[in-house]
Amino acid sequence: CVGFAAASADANIALVKYWGKADERLILPRSSSLSLTLDGLSTRTEVRFLETPGNDAQVKDDDLVMRDTLTIDGKPQSGRALERVSGFLDIVRSMAGLEGTVANVASWNTVPYGAGLASSASAFAALAAAASRAAGLWLSPRELSRLARRGSGSACRSVFGGLVRWNAGVSDETSYAEPIDGSKLNLAIVVVSVSEGVKPLSSREAMERTVATSPLYDAWIRSCAKDMEEAMKAVEYGDLELLGRVTEANSMGMHSTMMTARPPILYWLPQSVAILRAVQGIRADGVGAWSTMDAGPNVKVLVDAGDALSVADELKERVPGCKVSVHMSGHAVRF
Ligand code: DP6
Repeated sequence: CVGFAAASADANIALVKYWGKADERLILPRSSSLSLTLDGLSTRTEVRFLETPGNDAQVKDDDLVMRDTLTIDGKPQSGRALERVSGFLDIVRSMAGLEGTVANVASWNTVPYGAGLASSASAFAALAAAASRAAGLWLSPRELSRLARRGSGSACRSVFGGLVRWNAGVSDETSYAEPIDGSKLNLAIVVVSVSEGVKPLSSREAMERTVATSPLYDAWIRSCAKDMEEAMKAVEYGDLELLGRVTEANSMGMHSTMMTARPPILYWLPQSVAILRAVQGIRADGVGAWSTMDAGPNVKVLVDAGDALSVADELKERVPGCKVSVHMSGHAVRF
């Protein structure tokens, strides 16, 4: 064994979204984004690099060549999931001069993989941390954020806890996340999950199609710059109302670009719409609650931590059959 390390990372939910790449290989986004890292939704990953003497010899039998392995929640993975992880490990191997090695990767999520909540953000943040450490690289948090970005854009934000800003940048060096001071706010997210029927389109494919075909895309990118400015101001002044308004509007804007893509992309289910309306209703009754949605039918509700439990109860009552979980601000990557 050349090296072994383990790390955990929490998922994050974007309040101002990342949707669209300027560079697909380096995963440079078209706009900056802002997120909240969440406790209770995390991935723990172990990585072991092994020497492969057999791979260098003239091994003719393909079955004898050692390859990377991946298990998620105890289940061995092949196909796309393994290819994506292997591709990411190649970046780590080339940074560390470990080209001749293979890796065994084992990963566990606190929510079942496939429930629509296990996110690529926590997965690639934990993988970047464990793999870089196992490879003998001691990266600074910023370097780790840049590396995690290469696996999945949103993962660069899960390197840090609390409120996190991802600066779009113009190059590998300038596109990284950093924590911002959120001490004037006490935020929580209520995740409202909807039973999923159809297999959703991956966010990666969906964002590519949106950038390529939606006539609203450029306008949305322009509005993101303004949303970032307002959201940063809201955080600085501790103005939850303003942050909530920006969050809900930004998410609606992103979904409008998807709905106007060709062919259109619609992640919403009837229950998603019922939840969006319930959130409006709760707000009309005087409680601060604002919705946001990602590449799936679940709705996340931004609230003050003090209101989280009552908003969760209220949502269960207003939308029968939905499942809710409450998440406080989460932590930076842990080794
Ligand atoms: C809607 O980070 O999953 O959640 O970079 O292609 O891996 P890739 O995409 P990913 O996209 C996240 C999109 C989003 C918004 C966000 O988290 O900012």
